[in-house]
Amino acid sequence: MTSASACGKVILFGEHAVVYGRPAIAVPVSQVRAEAVVEPLPDAGDILLEAPDLGRNCWLSEAGADDAIAHLVRLTLKELGISAHGLRITVRSGLPIGRGMGSGAAVSTAIVRALSRHFGAGWPAEKVSALVFEAEKLYHGTPSGIDNTVIAFEAPVYFIKGQPPALLSIGAPLPLLIADTGIFSSTREVVGAVREAHARAPERYEGLFDAIGELVNTARQKLHADDLPALGRLMDENHRLLQEIGVSCPELDALVHAAKGAGALGAKLSGAGRGGNMIALVTPERAAVVEQALRTAGAVRVIFTQVSSPSAEQSRYAVA
Ligand code: MEV
Repeated sequence: MTSASACGKVILFGEHAVVYGRPAIAVPVSQVRAEAVVEPLPDAGDILLEAPDLGRNCWLSEAGADDAIAHLVRLTLKELGISAHGLRITVRSGLPIGRGMGSGAAVSTAIVRALSRHFGAGWPAEKVSALVFEAEKLYHGTPSGIDNTVIAFEAPVYFIKGQPPALLSIGAPLPLLIADTGIFSSTREVVGAVREAHARAPERYEGLFDAIGELVNTARQKLHADDLPALGRLMDENHRLLQEIGVSCPELDALVHAAKGAGALGAKLSGAGRGGNMIALVTPERAAVVEQALRTAGAVRVIFTQVSSPSAEQSRYAVA
């Protein structure tokens, strides 16, 4: 039996604009994880895919071409050069689905890691990320690739679509609260709605994406300099720009407002928007008060996380 897990993620700055070639910064959330277990299923001429939390149980040979998990398993086995059978792959996830925390990419990453380890291949993060990206295209249509990158590397990333990722070194750990509106958000649908709005008013949207791209580059410097108040102001500005893009909603705005009112340094929606999660940058002293304010304003779940620099092993990718 071989098991592997993968973290969740939040986007710190730059969602949506990243789909249009601007940079974005995403960070791992290590305490919420997806797990995959690969074990022998003697005498089975097929591979059983099980996701008990989703009530899913199917044979690989019977899964349709649009099934992202089956597609990923086939691709991974092809890459391993194995035509495996007699296996059970079980997936469990502690990540909320449709909340901008990368649940699909986390499940996919756990599966690729577990399968590659099971067959004795210890693949590097780039390779895991590239395979997961193929499944992401089935989940999300036109993903930028930021989710599979931050989750496969499990480190803060500065990401530009189509370019190798740069892992970010961060001054001191960054205390973040992640609050869930409880509203399902379909990345595919929200990205599609932005695409339509962009087609109707390209100049306006290009201007908004440019403003976000500039803000991301400033944020990268402030992260390195450990300037939390400046980062907080940039988060507020990023939220305002996302409102203009049309991807916020009253519930997200209420949580952002509550966090700021309780003393957060900055707050914004995170991920596709129109539901899902928001994030608030806090000082450790204010964390409990801001968390309570978020719950009072309707958050159904609040996670506290501290983002830190990539490990020494990962630092060959670090740039900042
Ligand atoms: C989703 O986590 C972030 C978006 O920018 C979509 C993408 O980058 O693929 C909304």
